[in-house]
Amino acid sequence: MAGAPATPVPARSGTRKVYVKSYGCQMNAYDAQRMADTLAAEGYAEAAAPEDADLVILNTCNIREKATEKVYSELGRLRVMKAEAARAGRSLTVAVAGCVAQAEGAEIVRRAPSVDLVVGSQNYHRLPALLARAKDGAVVDTEFPAEDRFDRLAPVRARGVSAFLTVQEGCDKFCTFCVVPYTRGAELSRPAAKIVAEAAALVAGGAREIVLLGQNVNAYHGDGPDGRAWTLGRLLERLAAIPGLARLRYTTSHPRDVDDSLLAAHRDLDCLMPQLHLPVQSGADRILAAMNRKHTRADYLKIVGKLRAARPDMAFTSDFIVGFPGETEAEFRDTLALVDEVGFCDSFSFKYSPRPGTPAAERGDQLSEAEKSERLARLQQAIVRHQKAFNASCVGRTLPVLFDKPGRHPGQTVGRSPYLQPVHVTSPLARIGAVMDVVITETSGNGLFGTMAMTNASPERILETQTT
Ligand code: 5AD
Ligand code: SF4
Repeated sequence: MAGAPATPVPARSGTRKVYVKSYGCQMNAYDAQRMADTLAAEGYAEAAAPEDADLVILNTCNIREKATEKVYSELGRLRVMKAEAARAGRSLTVAVAGCVAQAEGAEIVRRAPSVDLVVGSQNYHRLPALLARAKDGAVVDTEFPAEDRFDRLAPVRARGVSAFLTVQEGCDKFCTFCVVPYTRGAELSRPAAKIVAEAAALVAGGAREIVLLGQNVNAYHGDGPDGRAWTLGRLLERLAAIPGLARLRYTTSHPRDVDDSLLAAHRDLDCLMPQLHLPVQSGADRILAAMNRKHTRADYLKIVGKLRAARPDMAFTSDFIVGFPGETEAEFRDTLALVDEVGFCDSFSFKYSPRPGTPAAERGDQLSEAEKSERLARLQQAIVRHQKAFNASCVGRTLPVLFDKPGRHPGQTVGRSPYLQPVHVTSPLARIGAVMDVVITETSGNGLFGTMAMTNASPERILETQTT
Protein backbone atom coordinates (compact mmCIF):
# COMPACT_ATOMS: atom_id res chain seq x y z
CA MET A 1 0.00 0.00 0.00
CA ALA A 2 1.29 3.47 -0.79
CA GLY A 3 1.27 6.10 1.90
CA ALA A 4 -1.50 8.12 0.27
CA PRO A 5 -2.82 10.96 2.37
CA ALA A 6 -6.38 10.71 3.70
CA THR A 7 -7.65 14.03 2.35
CA PRO A 8 -5.93 15.83 -0.51
CA VAL A 9 -5.18 19.43 0.39
CA PRO A 10 -6.22 21.77 -2.42
CA ALA A 11 -3.38 23.31 -4.42
CA ARG A 12 -2.28 26.86 -3.85
CA SER A 13 -4.68 28.30 -6.42
CA GLY A 14 -7.67 26.31 -5.17
CA THR A 15 -7.99 24.42 -8.48
CA ARG A 16 -6.54 20.94 -8.65
CA LYS A 17 -3.81 20.60 -11.24
CA VAL A 18 -2.53 17.62 -13.20
CA TYR A 19 0.79 17.18 -14.96
CA VAL A 20 1.03 14.33 -17.45
CA LYS A 21 4.54 13.38 -18.53
CA SER A 22 4.51 11.22 -21.60
CA TYR A 23 7.24 8.93 -22.93
CA GLY A 24 7.51 6.93 -26.14
CA CYS A 25 5.25 6.89 -29.15
CA GLN A 26 2.67 9.32 -30.52
CA MET A 27 -0.08 7.04 -29.28
CA ASN A 28 1.09 7.86 -25.76
CA ALA A 29 1.14 11.59 -26.56
CA TYR A 30 -2.47 11.27 -27.72
CA ASP A 31 -3.45 9.26 -24.63
CA ALA A 32 -1.83 11.93 -22.43
CA GLN A 33 -4.10 14.56 -23.97
CA ARG A 34 -7.16 12.39 -23.52
CA MET A 35 -6.26 11.79 -19.87
CA ALA A 36 -5.89 15.54 -19.31
CA ASP A 37 -9.23 16.14 -21.07
CA THR A 38 -10.95 13.43 -19.00
CA LEU A 39 -9.61 15.00 -15.79
CA ALA A 40 -10.53 18.51 -16.98
CA ALA A 41 -14.15 17.36 -16.79
CA GLU A 42 -13.45 16.63 -13.10
CA GLY A 43 -12.15 20.14 -12.50
CA TYR A 44 -8.42 19.54 -13.02
CA ALA A 45 -6.42 22.25 -14.78
CA GLU A 46 -3.16 21.38 -16.56
CA ALA A 47 -0.02 22.27 -14.59
CA ALA A 48 3.00 23.70 -16.40
CA ALA A 49 5.45 21.62 -14.34
CA PRO A 50 5.26 18.66 -11.92
CA GLU A 51 6.17 21.01 -9.04
CA ASP A 52 2.89 22.90 -9.59
CA ALA A 53 0.72 19.78 -9.73
CA ASP A 54 -1.47 17.92 -7.22
CA LEU A 55 -1.45 14.90 -9.49
CA VAL A 56 1.46 13.71 -11.64
CA ILE A 57 0.83 10.97 -14.19
CA LEU A 58 3.80 9.26 -15.82
CA ASN A 59 2.55 7.91 -19.12
CA THR A 60 5.17 5.27 -19.70
CA CYS A 61 6.78 3.26 -22.50
CA ASN A 62 8.43 -0.15 -22.26
CA ILE A 63 9.35 -0.77 -25.88
CA ARG A 64 13.04 -0.89 -24.91
CA GLU A 65 14.72 -1.54 -21.56
CA LYS A 66 16.10 2.00 -21.28
CA ALA A 67 12.59 3.41 -21.50
CA THR A 68 11.47 1.24 -18.55
CA GLU A 69 14.45 2.19 -16.38
CA LYS A 70 13.79 5.90 -17.03
CA VAL A 71 10.38 5.47 -15.39
CA TYR A 72 11.87 4.10 -12.18
CA SER A 73 14.40 6.92 -11.94
CA GLU A 74 11.62 9.47 -12.52
CA LEU A 75 9.60 7.78 -9.76
CA GLY A 76 12.60 8.26 -7.45
CA ARG A 77 12.50 12.01 -8.12
CA LEU A 78 8.74 12.10 -7.55
CA ARG A 79 9.14 10.35 -4.19
CA VAL A 80 11.32 13.25 -3.04
CA MET A 81 8.86 15.79 -4.46
CA LYS A 82 5.97 14.06 -2.72
CA ALA A 83 7.78 14.19 0.64
CA GLU A 84 8.53 17.90 0.12
CA ALA A 85 4.88 18.58 -0.74
CA ALA A 86 3.77 16.75 2.42
CA ARG A 87 6.14 18.89 4.52
CA ALA A 88 4.54 21.98 2.95
CA GLY A 89 1.09 20.69 3.93
CA ARG A 90 0.05 19.65 0.43
CA SER A 91 -0.57 16.29 -1.13
CA LEU A 92 0.89 15.00 -4.35
CA THR A 93 -0.75 11.99 -5.98
CA VAL A 94 1.51 9.92 -8.24
CA ALA A 95 0.03 7.74 -10.97
CA VAL A 96 1.75 5.47 -13.49
CA ALA A 97 -0.03 4.87 -16.80
CA GLY A 98 0.98 3.44 -20.18
CA CYS A 99 2.81 0.29 -21.18
CA VAL A 100 5.07 -0.09 -18.12
CA ALA A 101 1.92 0.10 -15.98
CA GLN A 102 0.28 -2.52 -18.20
CA ALA A 103 3.28 -4.85 -18.13
CA GLU A 104 4.47 -4.48 -14.52
CA GLY A 105 1.21 -3.82 -12.64
CA ALA A 106 1.58 -4.25 -8.86
CA GLU A 107 5.36 -4.69 -9.21
CA ILE A 108 5.55 -0.89 -9.64
CA VAL A 109 3.97 -0.25 -6.23
CA ARG A 110 6.33 -2.81 -4.72
CA ARG A 111 9.43 -1.16 -6.22
CA ALA A 112 8.14 2.42 -5.82
CA PRO A 113 5.78 2.54 -2.79
CA SER A 114 5.09 6.26 -3.22
CA VAL A 115 2.96 5.41 -6.26
CA ASP A 116 -0.78 5.80 -5.56
CA LEU A 117 -2.23 4.46 -8.78
CA VAL A 118 -1.15 2.11 -11.57
CA VAL A 119 -3.50 2.32 -14.54
CA GLY A 120 -3.15 0.22 -17.70
CA SER A 121 -3.52 1.69 -21.17
CA GLN A 122 -7.08 0.37 -21.58
CA ASN A 123 -8.52 1.98 -18.48
CA TYR A 124 -7.99 5.74 -18.73
CA HIS A 125 -11.73 6.37 -18.83
CA ARG A 126 -11.83 5.05 -15.25
CA LEU A 127 -9.23 7.57 -14.02
CA PRO A 128 -11.60 9.74 -11.93
CA ALA A 129 -13.04 6.71 -10.08
CA LEU A 130 -9.60 5.12 -9.64
CA LEU A 131 -8.18 8.35 -8.21
CA ALA A 132 -11.03 8.52 -5.72
CA ARG A 133 -10.27 4.94 -4.63
CA ALA A 134 -6.53 5.67 -4.44
CA LYS A 135 -7.17 8.06 -1.52
CA ASP A 136 -7.54 4.94 0.64
CA GLY A 137 -4.39 3.17 -0.57
CA ALA A 138 -2.61 2.21 -3.76
CA VAL A 139 -4.81 0.99 -6.61
CA VAL A 140 -3.70 -1.16 -9.55
CA ASP A 141 -5.97 -1.54 -12.59
CA THR A 142 -4.45 -3.22 -15.63
CA GLU A 143 -7.40 -5.25 -16.88
CA PHE A 144 -8.47 -5.34 -20.50
CA PRO A 145 -12.12 -4.27 -20.25
CA ALA A 146 -14.73 -5.43 -22.74
CA GLU A 147 -16.23 -1.97 -23.35
CA ASP A 148 -14.97 0.49 -25.95
CA ARG A 149 -12.78 2.79 -23.90
CA PHE A 150 -12.84 5.44 -26.61
CA ASP A 151 -16.53 6.01 -25.99
CA ARG A 152 -15.98 6.71 -22.34
CA LEU A 153 -13.12 9.17 -22.61
CA ALA A 154 -13.79 12.89 -22.87
CA PRO A 155 -14.19 14.13 -26.45
CA VAL A 156 -10.88 15.31 -27.91
CA ARG A 157 -10.22 18.97 -28.43
CA ALA A 158 -7.76 20.53 -30.83
CA ARG A 159 -4.63 21.90 -29.18
CA GLY A 160 -2.87 23.29 -32.19
CA VAL A 161 -2.49 23.20 -35.93
CA SER A 162 -1.74 19.46 -36.03
CA ALA A 163 -3.91 16.99 -34.11
CA PHE A 164 -3.59 13.28 -33.39
CA LEU A 165 -6.56 10.99 -33.79
CA THR A 166 -6.38 7.33 -32.77
CA VAL A 167 -8.21 5.10 -35.25
CA GLN A 168 -6.83 1.70 -34.33
CA GLU A 169 -5.14 0.18 -31.33
CA GLY A 170 -3.20 -2.94 -30.58
CA CYS A 171 -1.35 -5.32 -32.85
CA ASP A 172 -1.76 -8.94 -33.98
CA LYS A 173 1.56 -9.18 -35.82
CA PHE A 174 3.71 -10.54 -32.97
CA CYS A 175 7.14 -9.54 -34.22
CA THR A 176 9.42 -11.64 -32.04
CA PHE A 177 11.20 -8.64 -30.48
CA CYS A 178 8.14 -6.58 -29.62
CA VAL A 179 6.05 -6.12 -26.46
CA VAL A 180 3.21 -4.16 -28.11
CA PRO A 181 0.87 -7.14 -28.76
CA TYR A 182 1.14 -7.94 -25.03
CA THR A 183 0.87 -4.40 -23.62
CA ARG A 184 -1.63 -2.92 -26.08
CA GLY A 185 -3.55 -6.11 -26.79
CA ALA A 186 -5.30 -7.38 -29.89
CA GLU A 187 -5.97 -5.18 -32.87
CA LEU A 188 -9.11 -3.08 -32.53
CA SER A 189 -10.43 -0.54 -35.06
CA ARG A 190 -12.84 2.24 -34.15
CA PRO A 191 -16.02 2.68 -36.20
CA ALA A 192 -15.49 5.07 -39.15
CA ALA A 193 -18.40 7.37 -38.26
CA LYS A 194 -16.93 8.12 -34.84
CA ILE A 195 -13.56 8.93 -36.38
CA VAL A 196 -15.14 11.23 -38.98
CA ALA A 197 -17.10 13.06 -36.26
CA GLU A 198 -13.97 13.43 -34.13
CA ALA A 199 -11.96 14.70 -37.10
CA ALA A 200 -14.65 17.25 -37.97
CA ALA A 201 -14.65 18.45 -34.34
CA LEU A 202 -10.86 18.80 -34.39
CA VAL A 203 -11.02 20.87 -37.59
CA ALA A 204 -13.82 23.01 -36.15
CA GLY A 205 -11.54 23.56 -33.14
CA GLY A 206 -8.73 24.88 -35.32
CA ALA A 207 -6.73 21.81 -36.47
CA ARG A 208 -5.51 22.03 -40.08
CA GLU A 209 -3.70 18.69 -40.11
CA ILE A 210 -4.83 15.36 -38.69
CA VAL A 211 -2.43 12.51 -38.00
CA LEU A 212 -4.26 9.19 -37.74
CA LEU A 213 -2.65 6.97 -35.14
CA GLY A 214 -2.51 3.25 -34.58
CA GLN A 215 0.16 0.73 -33.62
CA ASN A 216 -0.61 -0.95 -36.93
CA VAL A 217 -2.65 1.86 -38.47
CA ASN A 218 -2.95 0.48 -41.98
CA ALA A 219 -4.50 -2.73 -40.67
CA TYR A 220 -7.51 -0.48 -39.97
CA HIS A 221 -10.79 -2.27 -40.70
CA GLY A 222 -13.43 -0.35 -38.75
CA ASP A 223 -17.18 -0.61 -39.34
CA GLY A 224 -18.26 1.82 -42.04
CA PRO A 225 -21.59 3.68 -42.05
CA ASP A 226 -22.55 1.54 -45.08
CA GLY A 227 -22.38 -1.62 -42.95
CA ARG A 228 -19.10 -2.77 -44.50
CA ALA A 229 -15.61 -2.81 -43.00
CA TRP A 230 -13.71 0.24 -44.22
CA THR A 231 -10.03 0.10 -45.09
CA LEU A 232 -7.65 2.88 -44.15
CA GLY A 233 -7.71 4.05 -47.78
CA ARG A 234 -11.50 4.39 -47.69
CA LEU A 235 -11.34 6.21 -44.35
CA LEU A 236 -8.72 8.65 -45.67
CA GLU A 237 -10.87 9.35 -48.72
CA ARG A 238 -13.81 10.24 -46.46
CA LEU A 239 -11.71 12.38 -44.11
CA ALA A 240 -10.21 14.27 -47.07
CA ALA A 241 -13.70 15.62 -47.78
CA ILE A 242 -13.89 17.51 -44.47
CA PRO A 243 -13.92 21.23 -45.38
CA GLY A 244 -10.99 23.14 -43.91
CA LEU A 245 -8.77 20.08 -43.41
CA ALA A 246 -5.52 20.83 -45.23
CA ARG A 247 -3.38 17.79 -44.47
CA LEU A 248 -3.70 14.12 -43.56
CA ARG A 249 -1.01 11.74 -42.33
CA TYR A 250 -1.08 8.33 -40.65
CA THR A 251 1.37 6.34 -38.60
CA THR A 252 2.65 3.63 -37.97
CA SER A 253 2.20 1.28 -40.91
CA HIS A 254 3.18 -2.32 -41.49
CA PRO A 255 4.44 -3.17 -45.00
CA ARG A 256 2.15 -6.22 -45.15
CA ASP A 257 -0.96 -4.06 -44.84
CA VAL A 258 -0.35 -1.63 -47.70
CA ASP A 259 -3.34 -2.50 -49.91
CA ASP A 260 -4.72 -1.16 -53.19
CA SER A 261 -7.09 1.25 -51.46
CA LEU A 262 -4.15 2.86 -49.68
CA LEU A 263 -2.22 3.15 -52.95
CA ALA A 264 -5.30 4.76 -54.52
CA ALA A 265 -5.54 7.22 -51.62
CA HIS A 266 -1.92 8.28 -52.18
CA ARG A 267 -2.61 8.62 -55.91
CA ASP A 268 -5.85 10.59 -55.59
CA LEU A 269 -5.82 12.66 -52.41
CA ASP A 270 -3.81 15.88 -52.58
CA CYS A 271 -4.18 16.45 -48.85
CA LEU A 272 -2.62 13.06 -48.03
CA MET A 273 1.00 14.00 -47.47
CA PRO A 274 3.67 12.25 -49.57
CA GLN A 275 5.69 11.07 -46.57
CA LEU A 276 5.26 7.64 -45.07
CA HIS A 277 6.75 6.01 -41.99
CA LEU A 278 7.08 2.40 -43.09
CA PRO A 279 9.30 0.44 -40.70
CA VAL A 280 11.39 -2.31 -42.30
CA GLN A 281 13.55 -3.18 -39.22
CA SER A 282 16.19 -5.11 -41.23
CA GLY A 283 17.41 -5.55 -44.79
CA ALA A 284 18.28 -9.26 -44.41
CA ASP A 285 15.72 -11.95 -45.23
CA ARG A 286 16.92 -14.43 -42.60
CA ILE A 287 16.62 -11.76 -39.88
CA LEU A 288 13.23 -10.59 -41.18
CA ALA A 289 12.00 -14.19 -40.94
CA ALA A 290 13.44 -14.59 -37.42
CA MET A 291 11.70 -11.33 -36.48
CA ASN A 292 8.42 -12.78 -37.82
CA ARG A 293 7.98 -9.65 -39.92
CA LYS A 294 5.93 -11.52 -42.56
CA HIS A 295 7.68 -9.71 -45.41
CA THR A 296 10.98 -10.08 -47.25
CA ARG A 297 13.41 -7.43 -48.40
CA ALA A 298 12.05 -7.81 -51.95
CA ASP A 299 8.44 -7.44 -50.69
CA TYR A 300 9.40 -4.20 -48.98
CA LEU A 301 11.12 -2.79 -52.06
CA LYS A 302 8.12 -3.75 -54.19
CA ILE A 303 5.76 -1.86 -51.86
CA VAL A 304 8.02 1.20 -51.90
CA GLY A 305 7.98 1.01 -55.70
CA LYS A 306 4.20 0.80 -55.85
CA LEU A 307 3.81 3.78 -53.51
CA ARG A 308 6.26 5.79 -55.61
CA ALA A 309 4.32 4.85 -58.75
CA ALA A 310 1.14 6.11 -57.05
CA ARG A 311 2.77 9.31 -55.82
CA PRO A 312 6.14 10.01 -57.44
CA ASP A 313 7.36 12.45 -54.77
CA MET A 314 6.76 9.99 -51.93
CA ALA A 315 9.45 10.09 -49.23
CA PHE A 316 9.98 7.27 -46.74
CA THR A 317 11.14 6.97 -43.16
CA SER A 318 11.71 3.72 -41.29
CA ASP A 319 12.57 2.08 -37.99
CA PHE A 320 15.61 -0.21 -37.85
CA ILE A 321 16.83 -2.64 -35.22
CA VAL A 322 20.52 -3.53 -35.22
CA GLY A 323 21.99 -6.52 -33.43
CA PHE A 324 18.92 -8.74 -33.45
CA PRO A 325 20.01 -12.14 -32.01
CA GLY A 326 22.23 -13.97 -34.48
CA GLU A 327 22.61 -11.00 -36.89
CA THR A 328 25.89 -11.43 -38.80
CA GLU A 329 28.07 -8.67 -40.19
CA ALA A 330 26.94 -9.61 -43.72
CA GLU A 331 23.29 -9.39 -42.67
CA PHE A 332 23.89 -6.01 -41.09
CA ARG A 333 25.45 -4.88 -44.37
CA ASP A 334 22.24 -5.94 -46.13
CA THR A 335 20.49 -3.37 -43.92
CA LEU A 336 23.03 -0.69 -44.88
CA ALA A 337 22.53 -1.55 -48.54
CA LEU A 338 18.75 -1.27 -48.17
CA VAL A 339 19.17 2.22 -46.69
CA ASP A 340 21.08 3.19 -49.82
CA GLU A 341 18.60 1.50 -52.12
CA VAL A 342 15.52 3.23 -50.70
CA GLY A 343 17.19 6.53 -49.78
CA PHE A 344 15.09 7.20 -46.67
CA CYS A 345 14.58 10.91 -45.91
CA ASP A 346 15.02 10.17 -42.18
CA SER A 347 14.74 7.16 -39.84
CA PHE A 348 14.84 5.90 -36.29
CA SER A 349 17.36 3.23 -35.39
CA PHE A 350 17.69 1.18 -32.22
CA LYS A 351 19.95 -1.43 -30.67
CA TYR A 352 18.03 -4.64 -30.13
CA SER A 353 16.79 -4.68 -26.53
CA PRO A 354 15.65 -8.05 -25.14
CA ARG A 355 12.16 -7.64 -23.70
CA PRO A 356 11.01 -10.17 -21.09
CA GLY A 357 8.26 -12.43 -22.42
CA THR A 358 9.09 -11.96 -26.11
CA PRO A 359 10.47 -14.94 -28.12
CA ALA A 360 13.66 -13.22 -29.31
CA ALA A 361 14.71 -12.49 -25.72
CA GLU A 362 14.94 -16.25 -25.06
CA ARG A 363 17.51 -16.83 -27.81
CA GLY A 364 21.02 -17.89 -26.88
CA ASP A 365 22.75 -15.98 -29.69
CA GLN A 366 22.48 -12.46 -28.28
CA LEU A 367 25.03 -9.94 -29.55
CA SER A 368 27.29 -7.97 -27.23
CA GLU A 369 26.54 -4.34 -26.39
CA ALA A 370 29.79 -3.34 -28.11
CA GLU A 371 28.76 -5.02 -31.38
CA LYS A 372 25.33 -3.44 -31.25
CA SER A 373 26.76 0.02 -30.53
CA GLU A 374 29.26 -0.26 -33.36
CA ARG A 375 26.55 -1.26 -35.86
CA LEU A 376 24.18 1.43 -34.63
CA ALA A 377 26.82 4.13 -35.19
CA ARG A 378 27.44 2.90 -38.75
CA LEU A 379 23.73 2.74 -39.53
CA GLN A 380 23.11 6.19 -38.11
CA GLN A 381 25.88 7.60 -40.29
CA ALA A 382 24.16 6.18 -43.37
CA ILE A 383 20.75 7.49 -42.26
CA VAL A 384 22.12 11.01 -41.65
CA ARG A 385 23.92 10.96 -45.00
CA HIS A 386 20.62 10.27 -46.78
CA GLN A 387 18.70 12.76 -44.65
CA LYS A 388 21.18 15.51 -45.55
CA ALA A 389 21.07 14.58 -49.23
CA PHE A 390 17.28 14.64 -49.21
CA ASN A 391 17.20 18.03 -47.49
CA ALA A 392 19.81 19.41 -49.89
CA SER A 393 17.67 18.21 -52.81
CA CYS A 394 14.86 20.48 -51.54
CA VAL A 395 16.95 23.66 -51.85
CA GLY A 396 15.64 25.67 -54.80
CA ARG A 397 12.23 23.98 -54.70
CA THR A 398 8.99 25.69 -53.73
CA LEU A 399 7.20 23.68 -51.04
CA PRO A 400 3.83 24.22 -49.36
CA VAL A 401 4.47 24.78 -45.66
CA LEU A 402 1.90 24.46 -42.88
CA PHE A 403 2.98 27.00 -40.26
CA ASP A 404 2.49 25.78 -36.71
CA LYS A 405 4.53 27.84 -34.25
CA PRO A 406 6.67 30.94 -33.78
CA GLY A 407 10.40 30.42 -34.37
CA ARG A 408 13.15 31.11 -31.86
CA HIS A 409 14.28 34.32 -33.60
CA PRO A 410 12.23 37.52 -33.78
CA GLY A 411 9.88 37.57 -36.75
CA GLN A 412 10.48 33.88 -37.52
CA THR A 413 7.71 31.33 -38.01
CA VAL A 414 8.20 27.57 -38.27
CA GLY A 415 6.14 25.10 -40.21
CA ARG A 416 6.35 21.68 -41.79
CA SER A 417 6.96 20.73 -45.38
CA PRO A 418 4.92 17.87 -46.91
CA TYR A 419 7.89 15.63 -45.99
CA LEU A 420 7.73 16.70 -42.32
CA GLN A 421 10.92 18.75 -42.43
CA PRO A 422 10.81 21.82 -40.16
CA VAL A 423 10.90 24.96 -42.34
CA HIS A 424 11.96 28.33 -40.85
CA VAL A 425 10.74 31.51 -42.51
CA THR A 426 11.25 35.13 -41.44
CA SER A 427 8.37 37.05 -43.00
CA PRO A 428 5.45 39.13 -41.73
CA LEU A 429 3.23 37.21 -44.16
CA ALA A 430 3.65 33.85 -42.40
CA ARG A 431 0.53 32.97 -40.49
CA ILE A 432 0.19 30.08 -38.03
CA GLY A 433 -2.43 27.66 -39.32
CA ALA A 434 -1.96 28.66 -42.96
CA VAL A 435 -0.41 26.58 -45.75
CA MET A 436 1.83 28.87 -47.80
CA ASP A 437 4.33 28.35 -50.57
CA VAL A 438 7.94 28.75 -49.50
CA VAL A 439 11.03 28.85 -51.69
CA ILE A 440 13.63 26.74 -49.91
CA THR A 441 16.92 28.63 -49.84
CA GLU A 442 19.08 26.71 -47.37
CA THR A 443 19.37 23.61 -45.21
CA SER A 444 20.98 23.28 -41.80
CA GLY A 445 21.29 19.51 -42.15
CA ASN A 446 18.01 18.48 -40.56
CA GLY A 447 15.94 21.64 -41.06
CA LEU A 448 15.14 23.95 -43.97
CA PHE A 449 15.09 27.74 -44.35
CA GLY A 450 13.14 29.64 -46.95
CA THR A 451 11.47 32.79 -48.15
CA MET A 452 7.81 33.34 -48.94
CA ALA A 453 7.05 32.51 -52.59
CA MET A 454 5.76 35.38 -54.72
CA THR A 455 2.66 33.45 -55.61
CA ASN A 456 1.05 31.51 -52.84
CA ALA A 457 -1.25 29.67 -55.16
CA SER A 458 -0.82 25.99 -54.34
CA PRO A 459 -4.12 24.05 -54.16
CA GLU A 460 -3.68 23.85 -50.39
CA ARG A 461 -3.20 27.62 -50.20
CA ILE A 462 -6.39 28.26 -52.19
CA LEU A 463 -8.26 25.91 -49.86
CA GLU A 464 -6.77 27.72 -46.91
CA THR A 465 -7.85 31.19 -48.06
CA GLN A 466 -11.34 29.89 -48.83
CA THR A 467 -11.86 28.36 -45.44
CA THR A 468 -10.21 30.64 -42.91
N1 5AD B 1 14.47 -3.60 -29.22
C1 5AD B 1 14.81 -2.56 -29.99
N2 5AD B 1 13.93 -1.86 -30.71
C2 5AD B 1 12.63 -2.22 -30.64
N3 5AD B 1 11.54 -1.74 -31.23
C3 5AD B 1 10.47 -2.46 -30.83
N4 5AD B 1 10.86 -3.41 -29.97
C4 5AD B 1 12.21 -3.31 -29.84
C5 5AD B 1 13.19 -4.00 -29.11
N5 5AD B 1 12.87 -5.04 -28.35
C6 5AD B 1 11.58 -0.65 -32.20
C7 5AD B 1 11.08 -1.11 -33.57
C8 5AD B 1 9.74 -0.46 -33.67
C9 5AD B 1 9.94 0.81 -32.87
C10 5AD B 1 8.70 1.49 -32.39
O1 5AD B 1 10.71 0.40 -31.76
O2 5AD B 1 11.96 -0.60 -34.55
O3 5AD B 1 9.33 -0.20 -34.99
FE1 SF4 C 1 5.41 -4.49 -32.62
FE2 SF4 C 1 5.60 -5.76 -34.97
FE3 SF4 C 1 3.18 -5.00 -34.03
FE4 SF4 C 1 4.93 -3.14 -34.88
S1 SF4 C 1 3.97 -4.76 -36.16
S2 SF4 C 1 3.70 -3.09 -32.99
S3 SF4 C 1 6.89 -4.03 -34.28
S4 SF4 C 1 4.54 -6.53 -33.12
